[in-house]
Amino acid sequence: MHTTNQGIIVSGGSRGLGLHLVQRLLEQGNRVATFARSRTEDMDRLSVAYPEDFHFSEVDATDVDGITKFFAAVSDKFGRIHSVVNNAAIGQDQLLMHTDVETVKSIVDINIVGPTILTRAAVKHMMLEGGGNIVSISSICGSRGYAGLTVYAGSKGYLDAMTRSLAREVGEAGIFVNCVAPGFFESEMSSVLRPEQLATIKRRTPSGALSNDENIFKVVDLVVSGTTNMQGQVVFVDGGITS
Ligand SMILES: NC(=O)c1ccc[n+]([C@@H]2O[C@H](COP(=O)([O-])OP(=O)(O)OC[C@H]3O[C@@H](n4cnc5c(N)ncnc54)[C@H](OP(=O)(O)O)[C@@H]3O)[C@@H](O)[C@H]2O)c1
Repeated sequence: MHTTNQGIIVSGGSRGLGLHLVQRLLEQGNRVATFARSRTEDMDRLSVAYPEDFHFSEVDATDVDGITKFFAAVSDKFGRIHSVVNNAAIGQDQLLMHTDVETVKSIVDINIVGPTILTRAAVKHMMLEGGGNIVSISSICGSRGYAGLTVYAGSKGYLDAMTRSLAREVGEAGIFVNCVAPGFFESEMSSVLRPEQLATIKRRTPSGALSNDENIFKVVDLVVSGTTNMQGQVVFVDGGITS
């Protein structure tokens, strides 16, 4: 059973994992909207390939007004929004003692305030529409430590905690709230890892392999399909490194 014929918002779909989620959800016959701070060639390509079913706008995840207007424009175009995937985030590659306050604030703004604003808009819409699915892309760092990712890890732990409480607030309205927490996978964000760090991670991973975009998509697809009764959970997609 896969997700089809839904209206879906994926934040940060211009590249990396978000782009893969957007493409695969479109291929399965959904209407998909995404935003990022800047437009990429892939966004132009998808606008041509799916003129009715794809929507992209340049929006900053921390711009409350921008998110509200984006949500309204997407629901005008697609009608009901069945699922929202909080994917947009920024990373970190610095010990806390070297991290300046501006960097701390921007990680908090983008990785915490951003998904909270989008989730709030989703909850209001889904309450009126009779339910939906909210999935946040967390990280194994939300529940396991990694040096150099202290603030980033805190932001992902926030998403895990938000998910558990929100599930209790909105579960009765038929809204399912979950996190998918990948281990490291290849993208611009993880390109800061040195080859020897990647080799160590692979060696410590029971499956012997890092997850890829498609592994993570399969789990997101299942969670947003609305067929699982999974509620308030954090699902790890990490080859067993947290086991
Ligand atoms: N890569 C990993 O190893 C890894 C592991 C575990 C979890 N994750 C999580 O997986 C998700 C995707 O990561 P990724 O590696 O695919 O990242 P990525 O390649 O860096 O892509 C991030 C996306 O988010 C957008 N974005 C960033 N800041 C934004 C903002 N302020 N407003 C709107 N859009 C914004 C980016 O576009 P713009 O920059 O143009 O705005 C881009 O589309 C993230 O939540 C990340 O924390 C990643």
